[in-house]
Amino acid sequence: MTAHTTVVGAAVVTGGAHGLGAEIARLLVARGHRVIVADRDADGAQATAAAIGATAVTLDVVDLEACRALVAATPDLAVWVNNAGILTTGPSWETDEATRRRLFDVNVHGVINGTSAALEAFRPVGRGAVINVVSLAGISPAPHETIYGATKHAALAYSVSTQLDLIIRGERGIRISALCPDGMWTPMLHTRARDPDAWPSWSGAMLSAPAVAKAAVALLDHPRMVRSLPRWRAVQLRLFAIAPGLVAPALPQVCRRLARSCWRLPRSCWRGAQH
Ligand SMILES: NC(=O)c1ccc[n+]([C@@H]2O[C@H](COP(=O)([O-])OP(=O)(O)OC[C@H]3O[C@@H](n4cnc5c(N)ncnc54)[C@H](O)[C@@H]3O)[C@@H](O)[C@H]2O)c1
Repeated sequence: MTAHTTVVGAAVVTGGAHGLGAEIARLLVARGHRVIVADRDADGAQATAAAIGATAVTLDVVDLEACRALVAATPDLAVWVNNAGILTTGPSWETDEATRRRLFDVNVHGVINGTSAALEAFRPVGRGAVINVVSLAGISPAPHETIYGATKHAALAYSVSTQLDLIIRGERGIRISALCPDGMWTPMLHTRARDPDAWPSWSGAMLSAPAVAKAAVALLDHPRMVRSLPRWRAVQLRLFAIAPGLVAPALPQVCRRLARSCWRLPRSCWRGAQH
């Protein structure tokens, strides 16, 4: 997509209480949006909203009607950021069914619920922006983050296909962008810092939430169907996805080395980590 659209109005950030979502919310406030921090963690949403000058709403993205109600209560809605997400690690067969279903509920249906609800407001007026926070785990295999990677593949396919559906229907004023970052030092990984199965998260660049949030908000002025961070890593992982068999023989050794590397994170990273 080449046309640039500057968007103003209210902005909803799901999972906005912590981590990347809180950083995106902070940048959107600075950009002049009326921001709604929507999170299932009510206290966290309140604290973040109070700190950045936003409004807090308790929302579980799994609940479509709750997403629709939030849209209905936000008449000037211009931006919806589907950021809420959860991670589980380990081979798929070690992940119990309830956890597998919860991951798909939050990471896939949560994105579909938020996007569908936002489109109910955006399509009648022909404009609006949706940013879907996916992951590089959405573009390549992510062994030991297997179920997480499966959900992110689904979220990415949904995001890009929905944008294409809109284009086919001639609804070009609505932009849906998928952001695919590498590992990010947020509470999601703080709790995994000593989890050897989280090695894919340490296998590339460890990004900061403010840097990724900046890229997310930039998508409002320069929409992209897919924005990967960093780009070199996306190229590497797409090659892996094309020919996983070429890399497979080396994986046991790579996996063991990377599982140890989480112990060697810079000391600054450990500040605030729970372990
Ligand atoms: N941290 C990483 O390494 C990394 C890398 C790539 C992509 N991502 C993605 O970035 C997004 C943000 O992750 P993060 O690292 O900031 O995680 P985080 O755990 O730090 O924050 C996630 C936020 O989502 C909220 N949340 C979880 N389930 C929810 C639900 N059902 N409804 C509403 N809110 C819910 C949590 O309360 C929390 O505030 C996620 O989609 C994640 O998959 C993370």
